[in-house]
Amino acid sequence: MRLFICGFGTVGQGFAEVLESRKAFFEQRYGTQPVIVGIMDSKTYAVDEKGLDPLAMVERKGTTRKVGDREYTDSVKVLDSVDYDLLVEVSPTDIKTGGVGLINITHALETGKDVITVNKGPLALKFQELIALAKANRCKFRFEGSVGGAMPIINLCRENLMGEEIQSVRGILNGTCNFILSKMDKGQPFEQALREAQEMGYAETDPTNDIEGYDTACKVVILANSVFGRNVTFSDVKITGITSITEEAISMAASRNMVIRLIGEVSETALEVSPRLIPKGHPLALTGTLNIAQITTDLAGPVTVSGRGAGRKETASAILSDLISIMDERL
Ligand code: HSE
Repeated sequence: MRLFICGFGTVGQGFAEVLESRKAFFEQRYGTQPVIVGIMDSKTYAVDEKGLDPLAMVERKGTTRKVGDREYTDSVKVLDSVDYDLLVEVSPTDIKTGGVGLINITHALETGKDVITVNKGPLALKFQELIALAKANRCKFRFEGSVGGAMPIINLCRENLMGEEIQSVRGILNGTCNFILSKMDKGQPFEQALREAQEMGYAETDPTNDIEGYDTACKVVILANSVFGRNVTFSDVKITGITSITEEAISMAASRNMVIRLIGEVSETALEVSPRLIPKGHPLALTGTLNIAQITTDLAGPVTVSGRGAGRKETASAILSDLISIMDERL
């Protein structure tokens, strides 16, 4: 399997490292290794039909800030410059237009390549179009890491809970907001908590997407389309973020033994992101940067999962599981 990685920030580099760390696993399971034949960052690229050395590429990016010698302006031309089977699209997300991620994913699917992405913008804006394109071109298209990072949710609902009627998913799907709200529970001001979340690398490049609830809304759209078979887009979500939550509101909630948490909810009828009062001790009263989801099904009842919603190795773990699923089907 020849891979092209678009986006060589934290997640792209984390994935390269994870691939390297799983060499023995791939050898044992398939008798062969996936090779990275191309990598591009926002300005430069490197390609090699025989395979690039993942760790050398991470090292190079770390020291020079560039993944390759060659600069580009048209990512599609770069993709077409080498023979690959599967695109790993992890470039920074653009939730207004889908950005270069949408262009890359569309082009890869149109040219018959399998795609794994954690890029939320393209999925939240053009989900059904991309699914149709993948189907028309007989491509595998997976995106587990786009919701909840390392926390299994999409494949859990679609594969492990297969045959169930999934009635609702409610959860905390943004670590930045949960971190801020948890700090506010302890009396820390909003701005200071946000700065800390940015320093920890959790917040999006533009943290407005986190605190206004847009990032959670993208995830709600992805769940609605992939798990509930709905045909919705970002503009269909009723969104309220956490920017208007005051210290007084937090104290008032605490006096009633409650906390305020930003909850994303999807069901057959609901599509909403809003701050909610959650009783202390309830699973959704989670503290810190973790994500959590409560899935309610007709047979299994409630199923709750929690895990790290972002991070280098963590998000790469979701890409790895998608890659193995595809390799199981292809090899
Ligand atoms: N900014 C996101 C968060 C990263 O805080 O959860 C993962 O999508």
